[in-house]
Amino acid sequence: MNLTIPDLQQKLKSWQGCELAKTANPVLGEGNENAEIMFIGEAPGAKEDELGRPFVGPAGKFLDELLESIGLKREDVYISNVVKYRPPGNRDPLPEEKEQCMPWLMMEIALIKPKVIVPLGRHALAHFFQKLSITEAHGKPQNISEKLTVFPIYHPAAALHNGNLRQSLFDDFSALKKFLEQ
Ligand code: URA
Repeated sequence: MNLTIPDLQQKLKSWQGCELAKTANPVLGEGNENAEIMFIGEAPGAKEDELGRPFVGPAGKFLDELLESIGLKREDVYISNVVKYRPPGNRDPLPEEKEQCMPWLMMEIALIKPKVIVPLGRHALAHFFQKLSITEAHGKPQNISEKLTVFPIYHPAAALHNGNLRQSLFDDFSALKKFLEQ
């Protein structure tokens, strides 16, 4: 029997493999299971924890705006996170929390089989390239194989704190659109 994303969502509900499961609700990814593009953020925040869905708070609203700027809707893409639970007070996820949650992200990638993965911010970028800094790598496609390209972009929440990054995010999304059209 082939697993589906709803199967994973169901299984995650009873999983206790991460300390954060004691204090937060599970949030798997969601979106189009046939998507060619997959966006990966850091970890759920307060709104995501409340609703059990990724990127539905302020950063998610901005992500929707960025998607719209290149003619995409949430339903066209798949959106997930490295860590599947909200860290207390939205602190950075710990290395062990990222590691414990990693199998879920790997299973999502295996099911979706995206052609392009967009890590949003440094935590998701480090999942693919430990040594690349987001400041240097953003907006530059990295070929992983014939079938998969990683296209790093700043985390949308970063622009909510630092207005200068806003334009950079729109520029990178525009570069992503050009890349997809190639
Ligand atoms: N920030 C993230 O990295 N992921 C979310 O789902 C929400 C905010």
